[in-house]
Amino acid sequence: MNHDISALRKFVSPEIVFGAGARKSVANFASNFGAKHVLLVSDPGVAAAGWVNEIVTLLTDAGIRTTIFTGVSPNPKVDEVMAGAELYKSSECDVIVAIGGGSPMDCAKGIGIVATHGRSILEFEGVDTITHPSPPLILIPTTAGTSADVSQFAIISDPQRRFKFSIISKAVVPDVSLIDPEVTETMDAYLTACTGVDAMVHAIEAFVSTGSGPLTDSHALEAIRLINRNLEPLVENTANPYLREQIMLASMQAGLAFSNAILGAVHAMSHSLGGYLDLPHGLCNALLLEHVVAYNYVSAEDRFRRVAEAMDIDTRGMGKPEIKKRLMNRIVELKRKVGLEARLAELGVTVSDIPYLSGFALQDPCILTNPRKSSLRDVQVVYEEAL
Ligand SMILES: [Fe+2]
Repeated sequence: MNHDISALRKFVSPEIVFGAGARKSVANFASNFGAKHVLLVSDPGVAAAGWVNEIVTLLTDAGIRTTIFTGVSPNPKVDEVMAGAELYKSSECDVIVAIGGGSPMDCAKGIGIVATHGRSILEFEGVDTITHPSPPLILIPTTAGTSADVSQFAIISDPQRRFKFSIISKAVVPDVSLIDPEVTETMDAYLTACTGVDAMVHAIEAFVSTGSGPLTDSHALEAIRLINRNLEPLVENTANPYLREQIMLASMQAGLAFSNAILGAVHAMSHSLGGYLDLPHGLCNALLLEHVVAYNYVSAEDRFRRVAEAMDIDTRGMGKPEIKKRLMNRIVELKRKVGLEARLAELGVTVSDIPYLSGFALQDPCILTNPRKSSLRDVQVVYEEAL
């Protein structure tokens, strides 16, 4: 009997501890890996919020030395990864812990790769380029959205090319993810909105991806439901611990879905945009989302109907054009209510940038699982619509 290998699905996940206080088990996990000296990766904002000191204390109390590396900017750069790897080697570290948003976590993944292979991170662009296992990696996310703490993606910026490149491999799935809603308390409303919409985009793109399947669909749909119901109230009241936990759970589920089903044109185009103009990832996604949904709709109508239903739209008795209209309206409304309504032109994008942006978007691996095949001209038109 012949089997269709392209229909097979796999699912990779780190060991996850979820819930308030999860971060406090960091020393136990580090000890289980035999840690004597941890490289702790973070950024200046997270350090200023006090989270870095807390992790140092927890590790020190367990007899583990710590070297701190906070030289990470938003959209982590090649030279930051290389500097972190140099520090890891010169300090003779044996385990990496990162606490922060997507940038410190992606930087930590890159540091692990370079520390093991001893070559530039630029050599690991693409899918399955990693040949040696990285040091043990424990991630503690402080934002609810990027899901770098569960995903097999690391996104690094190359300022030389003004390009964000993707490293996709199960070798960059961390060993442990300590998902603790308490550490998202220090997020402001704008960051909450950006990362929450990023998580919504992860869930939608994973659900309509050509790599979607039964192992990821339930995670994607539940994430859409949770974000649709809880993100607006959370942005209005960022101190509410129940809402924080719901969005953190949604982010985790969206992360498990997209890590395994991969993404689509929103992320391909947003990586290109973010690398070119060094803009926040969630904002780039938000500005592109409904334009990509409009483009993709015809290729995945039944899937988008289920997305609409997960967004509490009662589709019974509705024709396809009506479902599409209601879904688009809800996406635009959600973005407006959380304050992410803008045009690309307001961020400094011009018509003359579009051919360059489109060329890089077509090189991004995320474009390969977009439900509708995209030509250079197609991508240009979608950018133009978002301009
Ligand atoms: Fe994303």
